[in-house]
Amino acid sequence: MIVSVKDILNEAKAGNYAVGAFNTVNLETTQAILRVASELESPVIVQVTEKTLEYAGGRAIFHLISDVAESYYPQVPVGIHLDHGKSFELIERAVEIGFNSVMYDGSRKKYVDNVATTKRVVEFCHKKGVSVQGELGNVPYIGEVATQTIVWEDYMTNPEEACRFVEETGIDTLAVAIGNAHGFFPERPEPDYDRLQTLSRCVRLPIVLHGASDWDGERVEKVIRLGVSCFNVDTAIRLSFLSQLSQTLASGSETDLRSVLGTARESVEAAVRKKILLFGSNGKAANREGIPEHDEKERSRNNESIRSRETTEMNYE
Ligand code: G3H
Ligand code: 13P
Ligand code: ZN
Repeated sequence: MIVSVKDILNEAKAGNYAVGAFNTVNLETTQAILRVASELESPVIVQVTEKTLEYAGGRAIFHLISDVAESYYPQVPVGIHLDHGKSFELIERAVEIGFNSVMYDGSRKKYVDNVATTKRVVEFCHKKGVSVQGELGNVPYIGEVATQTIVWEDYMTNPEEACRFVEETGIDTLAVAIGNAHGFFPERPEPDYDRLQTLSRCVRLPIVLHGASDWDGERVEKVIRLGVSCFNVDTAIRLSFLSQLSQTLASGSETDLRSVLGTARESVEAAVRKKILLFGSNGKAANREGIPEHDEKERSRNNESIRSRETTEMNYE
């Protein structure tokens, strides 16, 4: 079931857990994300970047995600999100295709320019029922800056500015920088927990963390307690796919592309499972079918129909 990202994340915030926003580029990654979300009864966000829209074709990748979600996992609450939209034109294109959530990433711009475009994006998207994530602060990419030379303080989100940013733009969720960085950094500082606490007190929106897919359990649990409601996860699942792929290819005997890609898909499933359990969103998909708790008859009819769909989903018929 395709649902609003804003609703998924507001529920996560209220329930003190986080939801994974997993990046996909192909069929196998999409299936792995949705299959595990279904197995663990978790809401989930499936997201793509501009590069993926170019690689796969915007309509093709959007319909791939929505068809796998709706045909095989109708009981899973799924948000479909454009990650790191860097221009108003790209946002327009994504909304026209059908994305129900977008990120406008103006984090590399001056504050006033970031506000101006984010506000324009919000006005456009809200009229169409699309949620908007903004970003303030700067979450660097590995390779973009030399790790040893990063002055982390210069990258981090200023809480006072963040409060103003939220008021001035009307965004639904905010991505922040508290020591997080895209990719797997060899060395990392401790996240700035005090800054996060101040941010979540004043921002009062679901907070999104990019670049934290290499964070360990303790850090993740702590930042969820301090107000993080969504983790973007790309590198962790991409590396699982690639390492399994290279292992299978190195063995040299497998020539069926479906077996090669199928084992990579299983490896992504394991990585997604680990993340969902860590974020605590497992079991949170229940009661999202719009059926009142007390309506037992309707509920059991509905469970029956879910069971019959599960038989189908295992076979991808
Ligand atoms: O933050 C974005 C992801 O790590 C993927 O980026 O699709 O532009 O390579 P990309
Ligand atoms: P990672 O590189 O930690 O997976 O972060 C991904 C991300 O932020 C995508 O927007
Ligand atoms: Zn990111």
